[in-house]
Amino acid sequence: MPSHPRDALRAWFLGPRAENAELLERLVVEALRDHVFWRRNYHPEDGLAIRETDKRQEGYEENVATLTQELMGLLAELKRDVPFFSGRYKGHMVGEQTIASQIGYFATMLYNPNNIAVEISPVTTRLEREVAEQLARMIGYDPSRSWGHLTSGGTVANFEALWLARSVRYLPVAAAGAAAELGLELPVRLPGGTSASIVDLPLWELLNVTNHDTLDLWDRLWQSAPRPDVQRALANHSLAAIGYQEYSRRLALDYGDPLPAGVVLVAATAHYSWEKIARALGIGSNQVVHVPLDHHYRMDPDALWEQVSALARRRNPILALVSVCGTTEESAVDRLDQVLQVRSRTERELGATFHIHSDACYGGYAAAVTRRADGTRRTAAEIRRSVEADWPSDDWVTAVEALGEADSVTVDPHKLGYVPYAAGAILVRDGRTRHLVATDPPYLSPTEGSASDGERFLGRYILEGSKPGAAAAAVWLSHKVIPLDERGYGYLIERTVAGALRFHAALATADLSPFRVVMLPVPDINIVCYVLCHPSLATLRAVNDFNERVYTRMSLARNDGSPEYIITRTRLRSPAYDGAVDPILAGLAVGSVEEWKAGGAEGLVVLRSTIMDPFLAAPSPAPDHVRGFLGALRRACAEVLGKGASA
Ligand SMILES: Cc1ncc(COP(=O)(O)O)c(C=O)c1O
Repeated sequence: MPSHPRDALRAWFLGPRAENAELLERLVVEALRDHVFWRRNYHPEDGLAIRETDKRQEGYEENVATLTQELMGLLAELKRDVPFFSGRYKGHMVGEQTIASQIGYFATMLYNPNNIAVEISPVTTRLEREVAEQLARMIGYDPSRSWGHLTSGGTVANFEALWLARSVRYLPVAAAGAAAELGLELPVRLPGGTSASIVDLPLWELLNVTNHDTLDLWDRLWQSAPRPDVQRALANHSLAAIGYQEYSRRLALDYGDPLPAGVVLVAATAHYSWEKIARALGIGSNQVVHVPLDHHYRMDPDALWEQVSALARRRNPILALVSVCGTTEESAVDRLDQVLQVRSRTERELGATFHIHSDACYGGYAAAVTRRADGTRRTAAEIRRSVEADWPSDDWVTAVEALGEADSVTVDPHKLGYVPYAAGAILVRDGRTRHLVATDPPYLSPTEGSASDGERFLGRYILEGSKPGAAAAAVWLSHKVIPLDERGYGYLIERTVAGALRFHAALATADLSPFRVVMLPVPDINIVCYVLCHPSLATLRAVNDFNERVYTRMSLARNDGSPEYIITRTRLRSPAYDGAVDPILAGLAVGSVEEWKAGGAEGLVVLRSTIMDPFLAAPSPAPDHVRGFLGALRRACAEVLGKGASA
């Protein structure tokens, strides 16, 4: 009989009390010794650069003493770091790392491969490609058609997603210019189903060719003329070569049609990196347009349709739409399936289209919950039986399954993948997309004839340069030990959700009198948000001030010793959260929507606990960190009010 992942879970982590210390120590020593043997057996005829007699020299001994002493200092300092491993840490989206990822990272770090090019990472570039394929399979992409790689994190992965999306959107414009220059007849399909020669199309239609048809067009262009000619002609007409300033001027001149600036539609909950990215790409943060939310903090598909149709009617290009799977603040999962339906309708009824990206940096690994060991999908009912709770809903499963239909998805192993920083990932559904941003440096180009090395030369297609092979090995080994399905990550995430549900229910029903807690909805994954209040707090500002002080007492910002439990907080602001926060404001019965809006940047302070601890749902025999937390919260509230929150 196959073992239950319940037992394996106890072997996945070092443990809050370092219960698996012997295991990790054995593996660290094994990896180190093995590396030492490698060095000793590599051209043993080379002799020694450091002799035993050198080690008796004063300068040598002095240096060893300094190293040892400074290390002791660093180790002492690190005790002030954040105890992510503890059930007492209920703060940001980071928890323990798997032993597999720790040892994978450590072992590979000794070799220090650089995954920018196969030449300097023959092993770990292969592992990175495997990891990308595993993640692709998990979210529902066909690994033989998709492409992806690891990044230093979600921000860079998202950056690449928008960079790729914009490159696809503008390609038909460049292709039209190139085709005219080379005298080519290039037919292209339009969203309505008709076909036209690319040189005859107006700018609006060029900017509304579907991703798939754009990539077909790209293939046809290269087949239609000699390579160097296409290369030169594309450079004469591409945004990447010419740059926004000159490009806009030229398009207005060539097409006599200065379309409004292209926008990026993002869920109002979108991570702040999107604003940063729009600025860095020269799109401009004013072009980042928020799509309103429903009361569950998910993108509202009806509001999306309204916005898209208004934009299309004004002939305002949409460079991309960013939906979120696992929002930073609430872990909300957008109804991606409905977002995709909005795009289909846009193509059918309005002849317009846009790239759909899912920012699943946080929630992407939750797709493992939907996978059986053989790769087929579990039903929502099957998962609910396993979690022993009313989670997930059928809609949640449909939304997560829709990840496979998004044009690009970002998923961060260093979040719900429980691996060390730095490990983000970007996946694109159609692997051809990567060629649109390729750059070849002379000193790293693969040798003639090594086509597969060329494909594996990551530096050609990505934003970053040097990148740690150790990070790829860490993720790879973790996926080997903890598979991306119900036996591995699926089970791990189920346990954290079960913990979050227990935590949410306990807070919602806790008797904290005279304090009261107003809960945000039951989370889609495992981030629980709540607001505290007290009868003496008569204004929204007073409630905010009170919650801010409770947060300070329960965070590392506290300067009188370590907090019993660690939480974090966020501020829900207008206009991003318009409508979504109404039930919370009503529950508080303090202030009004108008007061909240007038508060501007102050917003509504919301306490936030990310539950990464897989043992929280069934703590026995470990300490019960739900009961413990409630006691600590009660004490923090009393202390804060005792110190006089401004009422
Ligand atoms: C939804 C989402 N996207 C992107 C990011 C950015 O990720 P990183 O901090 O790894 O750059 C985060 C980080 O919290 C996030 O929650």
